[in-house]
Amino acid sequence: MVDKNNMSDYPNVQMVDFKSCGDERGSLIALEQIKNVPFDIKRVYYMFDTKEGVTRGFHAHKALKQVAIAVKGSCNFVLDNGKKRVNVKLDDPCKGLLIEEFIWREMNQFSPDCVLMVLASEYYDESDYVRDYDEFLKAQLK
Ligand code: TYD
Repeated sequence: MVDKNNMSDYPNVQMVDFKSCGDERGSLIALEQIKNVPFDIKRVYYMFDTKEGVTRGFHAHKALKQVAIAVKGSCNFVLDNGKKRVNVKLDDPCKGLLIEEFIWREMNQFSPDCVLMVLASEYYDESDYVRDYDEFLKAQLK
């Protein structure tokens, strides 16, 4: 679970609670741009069948905003704002992790059944990535 106090100095990171329309048949969550996802959704991608021990990510974005949801299973996000690293475990399909610009992220500890879905505010654009950690730290100082 997220320790919100731990994230108080993380202005570009926030947990978003999604209302579940569940009933006796099961659960259902609707995601709508602007309404419960705070940007226009241009892209959705998802990671699954992630191999044991894998860490992915190792980048920040210059402008992209994203909401990550473990729709199945669990994984861990390491978030880094250049000053402090925090771990955020995603294990609840009713919660989204909003990550805005200039947050370094690494994802690990994927459960074998994890399906990690990401909603993104922009189309895929390699030029928006900062994949070099030193470059990321320098950008924080600007
Ligand atoms: P990559 O950036 O390595 O994923 P991660 O940061 O999670 O480790 O992406 C893996 C591959 O998928 C890479 O070749 C780029 C491609 N890709 C797309 O084509 N579109 C996308 O929206 C994303 C996120 C990745």
